[in-house]
Amino acid sequence: MRHLSVPSEQTQAWLQRCKANGWLAQSGVVEVDERHRGLPLNEAAPAEGDDCWEGFLHVEIEPRTRGPTHWTHHLPAPLQALPESTWPSSYETQGDVLIFKLDEASEPHAHAIAEAMLKQMPNVRIVCADAGVKGDFRVRDLTPLLSRDGSTVSATRVREHDQVVDVDPGEAYYSARLAQQRKNTYDEVQAFQQHLGRPVVVADPYAGVGPAFVLMLKHTGLLQGYLAGDLNPKAVDLMRKNIARWTRKNSTNFNPSTVVCKDARAWKNEPELSGRADVILVNLPHDSFEHLPDLFPLFVPQGEGLLRGWAIIERTSLDGRVEQLESLVRAAGGTPHDAHVLEIKDFSTTRCFVLFQTLIAWD
Ligand SMILES: C[S@@+](CC[C@H](N)C(=O)[O-])C[C@H]1O[C@@H](n2cnc3c(N)ncnc32)[C@H](O)[C@@H]1O
Repeated sequence: MRHLSVPSEQTQAWLQRCKANGWLAQSGVVEVDERHRGLPLNEAAPAEGDDCWEGFLHVEIEPRTRGPTHWTHHLPAPLQALPESTWPSSYETQGDVLIFKLDEASEPHAHAIAEAMLKQMPNVRIVCADAGVKGDFRVRDLTPLLSRDGSTVSATRVREHDQVVDVDPGEAYYSARLAQQRKNTYDEVQAFQQHLGRPVVVADPYAGVGPAFVLMLKHTGLLQGYLAGDLNPKAVDLMRKNIARWTRKNSTNFNPSTVVCKDARAWKNEPELSGRADVILVNLPHDSFEHLPDLFPLFVPQGEGLLRGWAIIERTSLDGRVEQLESLVRAAGGTPHDAHVLEIKDFSTTRCFVLFQTLIAWD
């Protein structure tokens, strides 16, 4: 294909000139030699020797066509002829793990899909099919389909708010989509710490791999200590690793600095876990309200506390939720202030995902 050979430093100027005159072909700029670049010319461009080229030569070079821009372009040709509805329209990546849902149409082509995805995305190591979230641990049911290096583990690393987080989508819950909620939680804890005028103890009994602490542990002077736990032993292993990494550069002697693998409802029976928290996070969306009565004893029994949680509720019950939250606090012997329950997003046609929060005075 015909290319105009120009000195490298004049590439932009000539690109603009050729484009403005409608002489540029669709393919990309190529390297002619160390000091010259080739601009692809179309049929409409004048012949070599025309004054417009100011003496620059034309050279015949293979055009640099752009590679495929979508993973489906790597599917074998007969499969590319199938209707677009055959193929998954979305996927999620956690670190180097790619996860997507198979349905009846795509299932027979699972291997070809995984192969095409690996070809298109050089940063993906393993492609897994996701059969949905299962059990109390809210872990995805993953089936490894194909891996670049033969390893079938789903353990990987992601970055959140500039920190490394060890995750394992096949073993423990983690959702990158909630990173903004965690940032908001950090802001609320910071405001509460300023209100109290001293560092606070934060309890997160449903902490998963611990992402709520990413920002808090980085902030010297915010936390006096932390109580973190989860019922899923795999999540707790990852959380221990994560917290150890996030606290490495923080010289604070956190007290308490406790990580446990335990049912949150049983924390109230443990002297080292009960009566110590200034802030409690409740992230068990399907059961948060039901667990609350067992969690109030974790608060320091005098002064003020901050309760913040997330729940999935019937939208028709939204109106009565602030009242319910306040009466649960009163039943535990506290006085609620500024209680609110805010819809964050739809969960299904009848249910929504809400944030609830209240200050509590214990005197
Ligand atoms: C929705 S996830 C939230 C995890 C974490 N807070 C986050 O934002 O990534 C709920 C977590 O609660 C844990 N869990 C379920 N039942 C529990 C219980 N009774 N006590 C403690 N943890 C529990 C699950 O293993 C899961 O990691």
